[in-house]
Amino acid sequence: MDADRLVAELEEEMEKGLDFAPALELAVRLVHESEDCFHWTGIYELFPDDILRLGPFIGAPTDHVFIGVGQGVCGSAVAQGRNMNIPDVSKCDNYLACSNETKSELVVLIRSGDRIHGQIDIDSHTVDAFSPEIETGVQKVADFLATLYDGRLMSAA
Ligand code: SME
Repeated sequence: MDADRLVAELEEEMEKGLDFAPALELAVRLVHESEDCFHWTGIYELFPDDILRLGPFIGAPTDHVFIGVGQGVCGSAVAQGRNMNIPDVSKCDNYLACSNETKSELVVLIRSGDRIHGQIDIDSHTVDAFSPEIETGVQKVADFLATLYDGRLMSAA
């Protein structure tokens, strides 16, 4: 994935007046299309009740629309304050299955310092699909989205 080009495209669309929610949708689409091994890509947003709620996504519908902090790979990422790169989900004790076809999963936090806004979650049908380069690229997108969340919080204050 060319994360710099992807972020530049998002920035360009924001400058043209794209709103927050469509920007999240565009980010999901651009990330999803950036690698053939990404089979499900979505954003979970963290709410003040410590529940992750599914936002925009591309891929098969999932039962896991709400995930508590500490539950599954997604909730553990928030609880532990770190990204999760799971090369083989069949070896993961607390994995919440979205699709039987999923073999590996990457969760990258959208955060500003200690404040976690949410996460980008990607599933792949390939074992160990997420190289360190891919994780770094997805982190660049997540960091850009964090600036949008910060801007939204400032304008609501
Ligand atoms: N596998 C995730 C749940 C989300 S679905 O993959 C879309 C988890 O264990 O938290």
